[in-house]
Amino acid sequence: MALLNILRYPDPRLHKIAAPVTEFGTDRLRKLVADMAETMYDAPGVGLAATQVDVHERVVTIDVSEAQDKLIVFINPEITWASDEKQVYDEGCLSVPGVYDGVERPAQVKVRAFDVDGKEFNIDADGLLAVCIQHEMDHLMGKVFVEYLSPLKRNRIKAKLQKEERGMARDAAQRSARR
Ligand code: NI
Repeated sequence: MALLNILRYPDPRLHKIAAPVTEFGTDRLRKLVADMAETMYDAPGVGLAATQVDVHERVVTIDVSEAQDKLIVFINPEITWASDEKQVYDEGCLSVPGVYDGVERPAQVKVRAFDVDGKEFNIDADGLLAVCIQHEMDHLMGKVFVEYLSPLKRNRIKAKLQKEERGMARDAAQRSARR
């Protein structure tokens, strides 16, 4: 297994649209899922979409359990039903480090997806799991949660992350100059 590099907003690759997985049960798909789970737990985070590690296929890993021992892998997930009732949850994202803000979404959803072997399953989700599934499925459509916020907030977040990015690049350059 290996840790994967997580793209940071506003990286344009976060806006690519993921293609459905067509081959199940392959070593390649198993390795992608294992690496994504390892990367998610290491971060640590409760969900990761393949888009965030620059793989543009409909694959999501989620674990919202307290003990982080209930991994769910969603391949080609589809929302088959969403409640009229909404909930607002303070969301964060591994691609937008240090930023949390309220996003309103349906409070309950039903999701149909496939596991790595291509076996179909259905999940009724509410609470954090419902938030997380919808957030990760947005990633597969090239959408980052900050796009639900006002343009003013979004531009502030973009500027903050770009500044941090430049700082990290400068630190790396200084480190290599000192060698
Ligand atoms: Ni995210």
